[in-house]
Amino acid sequence: MRAFLIDDSSGSFERGVREVEPSPRDPGDVLVRVEYSGVNYKDAMVAVASSRVRRVPRVVGGVDAAGLVIHPGASRLLEGQRVAVHGGDLGVGRDGGFAEFVYAPAHWLSALPDTLSTRDAMVIGTAGVAAMASVLALEDHGLGDGEVLVTGATGGVGSLAVSLLAARGHTPVASTGSLDAHAWLLERGARSVIGRDEIADRPDRVLASERWAGAIDCVGGATLHQILRSLRYGGAVAASGLVAGTDLATTIYPFITRSISLLGIDVVEARPATRDRVWAALGDAASSVDFASLIDRDVPLEQLEDALDAVVHGTTRGRILVDPSAR
Ligand SMILES: NC(=O)c1ccc[n+]([C@@H]2O[C@H](COP(=O)([O-])OP(=O)(O)OC[C@H]3O[C@@H](n4cnc5c(N)ncnc54)[C@H](OP(=O)(O)O)[C@@H]3O)[C@@H](O)[C@H]2O)c1
Repeated sequence: MRAFLIDDSSGSFERGVREVEPSPRDPGDVLVRVEYSGVNYKDAMVAVASSRVRRVPRVVGGVDAAGLVIHPGASRLLEGQRVAVHGGDLGVGRDGGFAEFVYAPAHWLSALPDTLSTRDAMVIGTAGVAAMASVLALEDHGLGDGEVLVTGATGGVGSLAVSLLAARGHTPVASTGSLDAHAWLLERGARSVIGRDEIADRPDRVLASERWAGAIDCVGGATLHQILRSLRYGGAVAASGLVAGTDLATTIYPFITRSISLLGIDVVEARPATRDRVWAALGDAASSVDFASLIDRDVPLEQLEDALDAVVHGTTRGRILVDPSAR
């Protein structure tokens, strides 16, 4: 099969389209014919020389994919069933979705709701699963009326979070560094759009004014600190990402004087019941979210290098879809 192979095994780093034989790691693995994959920030971190994210020297990239079941393996899935596959070390430590076929263990697969096509599923992708998991975490915590901040709003997690919050009746405010994206974000459902530096006021004080009823943050670093100091009493931030950095320098004050919460979001090792709940909620949102409007562009495997660079440089707007059968 054709696949986008990352190879750091022979001393000289290479990445590109190669012929690769698909092979299961376990006899019970499910074989899926990939119809679409998507480009994630993590994919870009895997596809570089001496990557600290990649777990093996040689791997087919792609942390998520959607397609049709060819061999159900040990799963209860049916041949021909539409599925999304993501999680574990897919595309990081074992061959992933940037290929015509992918093998994965049953618990990394979710049957798609009738309302979602495989193309919709990869517009959503791991990023959209993280976005919906963040929305559900905020709702479970108790999200009252009020503005909900979304950072990195033009990216995969952020743009889906804006649309999903709006679809579920919340009031998303999009924070972005992309000055030309305001109209696009308003069309996606943002109530208003602010710059990256406008999240919190009173830089000279420990705490900022109480503003956000909740927040969905995929940026981390100093951005997360600004969110924590500007959440309203009892508010929460669902934190899933680290594009601005891994360190968090903050104070205990908003936790003990405003009773705020920091909710960690992980969809990589999420349990099957959690995945099913998130995919069901995504299926419910399909009637009110125009997933096609969240596509940055479609690329064949041959154009993946440019797409990975675009994600690193933050020049994407929504999701880049990969069609492994296109040339
Ligand atoms: N926890 C999980 O299970 C999970 C799942 C999926 C993704 N993630 C993580 O979530 C993060 C976002 O993933 P993604 O796929 O949405 O990435 P993405 O499509 O590249 O979007 C990230 C967005 O962040 C903003 N940004 C980029 N560099 C920035 C910087 N230096 N400072 C502030 N903002 C910056 C940009 O938006 P603006 O231009 O609009 O500001 C960019 O579009 C990544 O860290 C990823 O690993 C975690």
